[in-house]
Amino acid sequence: MAFPVNRPRRLRRNETIRRMVRETRLSPDNLIQPYFVCPGRGVSKPISSMPGVAQMSVDNVVAAARDAFAAGVPATILFGLPERKDAVGSEAWADDGAVQRAIREIKERVPGMCVVTDVCMCEYTDHGHCGAIKSGDVDNDATLELLVREALSHARAGADIVAPSDMMDGRVGAIRTALDRDGFTNIAIMAYSAKYASAFYGPFREAAESAPQFGDRRSYQMDPPNGDEAMREVALDLEEGADIVMVKPALAYLDLIWRVKSEFRVPVAAYNVSGEYSMIRAAGRNGWLDEERATMEMLVAMRRAGADMILTYFATEVARRLNR
Ligand code: PBG
Repeated sequence: MAFPVNRPRRLRRNETIRRMVRETRLSPDNLIQPYFVCPGRGVSKPISSMPGVAQMSVDNVVAAARDAFAAGVPATILFGLPERKDAVGSEAWADDGAVQRAIREIKERVPGMCVVTDVCMCEYTDHGHCGAIKSGDVDNDATLELLVREALSHARAGADIVAPSDMMDGRVGAIRTALDRDGFTNIAIMAYSAKYASAFYGPFREAAESAPQFGDRRSYQMDPPNGDEAMREVALDLEEGADIVMVKPALAYLDLIWRVKSEFRVPVAAYNVSGEYSMIRAAGRNGWLDEERATMEMLVAMRRAGADMILTYFATEVARRLNR
């Protein structure tokens, strides 16, 4: 029945009523806080393109993780910076690497926290690509070996979830097989399934010092105009044993979060990437928009689209805001 019988504004009259009819909620439970772990002690090196985010040594990461967990953030995802880079990124599977040490320390000092690790070669290779290079391109099958070594070393250090972000074909299956063979049947895989070759990763490449030294990532990351292809990537990863699938970036890909959730009904993660973070921070700092409100609106939109989990550099800050 139409106006004047029907007046949708009745249910928007005040905050109490709005609370009662609110359809989507954002809780600290939904958030995953990323950290960039670097070598050294007492290091906190700000990332200029991501105000409020720093590369931190293990001690500082543990302190930050403790605060995040206390604020209600259940999980962190760790990215590592090596002492030295080489052609195959061999420090990625060093048992005493920065990420491996951070995993052990967090599991010891903040035992309730879920530790997710990013499994990729780009921070560890001297050429900045996500795998081994052959004839000017990333060699898929040779890279699987490297990713498996890295994932196993994260598992040995005590990671709860490994998250391959390289976009090689078959990596989820290769990692699942290796984990199971070595007795890590309980470690889950969060697959970066629909990961696009995106300009929104710009600031991350400063943070992780992982910009490709030649070419770009378009021969392995997805082409932004494609949506059906994302469904195929998700189906393949689930077949290979992914427990959680991810859409990345999030903001320009909300339709895909919706499609993945509707089609597969599995746990879906959305990565609110560095560029999405920096846009809001920059505009907020310039006084061009209300940073707090824009952040909440963006994150709740990802939840409304169907994301169960959101990886976001805002996690701890937002969890504290949700608690007040
Ligand atoms: C590693 C990786 C990237 C991000 C997460 N894992 C960068 C890339 O693919 O170039 C981006 C995260 C962000 O922008 O916040 N492959």
